[in-house]
Amino acid sequence: MTKRVAVLLSGRGSNFQSLLNASLEGSLGGGISLVISNRPGAGGLCIAQDAGIETALIDHQRYPSREAFDQDLAGALDNAHPDLVVLAGFMRILTPEFVARFSGRLMNIHPSLLPLYPGLHTHQRALDNGDSHAGATVHYVTGELDGGPPVLQARVPVNSGDDANALAARVLAMEHQIYPVAVNWHLGGRLAWSDGGLLKDGLPMPPSGELWKNAS
Ligand code: GAR
Repeated sequence: MTKRVAVLLSGRGSNFQSLLNASLEGSLGGGISLVISNRPGAGGLCIAQDAGIETALIDHQRYPSREAFDQDLAGALDNAHPDLVVLAGFMRILTPEFVARFSGRLMNIHPSLLPLYPGLHTHQRALDNGDSHAGATVHYVTGELDGGPPVLQARVPVNSGDDANALAARVLAMEHQIYPVAVNWHLGGRLAWSDGGLLKDGLPMPPSGELWKNAS
């Protein structure tokens, strides 16, 4: 049966678009069956609607608590029976209960070379520190913010004269390449996550995940 991916997003949805392109080309290993946004007017919702994908708006501002929002979100996801829930620019911290419910089938992409710079303003922080490289990391989600085991990481150089926008654009181009690959690995059953860490094809993964230039 076709594997099912649910996408959570808050904004323009360019990572979702890259996942959608991969699914249409047959390289994702499954299809996107549901897109949920917590923000009305998120560009990603329009992309999904134009593609004929089921969408839902679950506006966090209409909920009295994080727990109540996450409960409705989890309910909507459960109805879709996803093999994987993908956070694609979903700018909400999830409750431990939500993370536990989807543990092992919840992935995120973060615009930094984790474990560097969890949280916000990653590109400016890399520039402020004079880093020679920046990048993006796909990881499984745990209760620790941007702290779950990395699957795949891409590095880009920081060029002299870069501002945060220029660096973000260079990193984003890599995000669009690596996220569909990591999702394909998950859907293909190539990743296994246990107490001993993350395995790919039965072999331990490096602590920062596979490096994109080596990925296959
Ligand atoms: C991406 O750069 C993604 O890595 C980042 O938000 C952007 C969403 O762009 N995610 C986070 O910062 C999550 N901590 P998109 O809506 O065009 O995919």
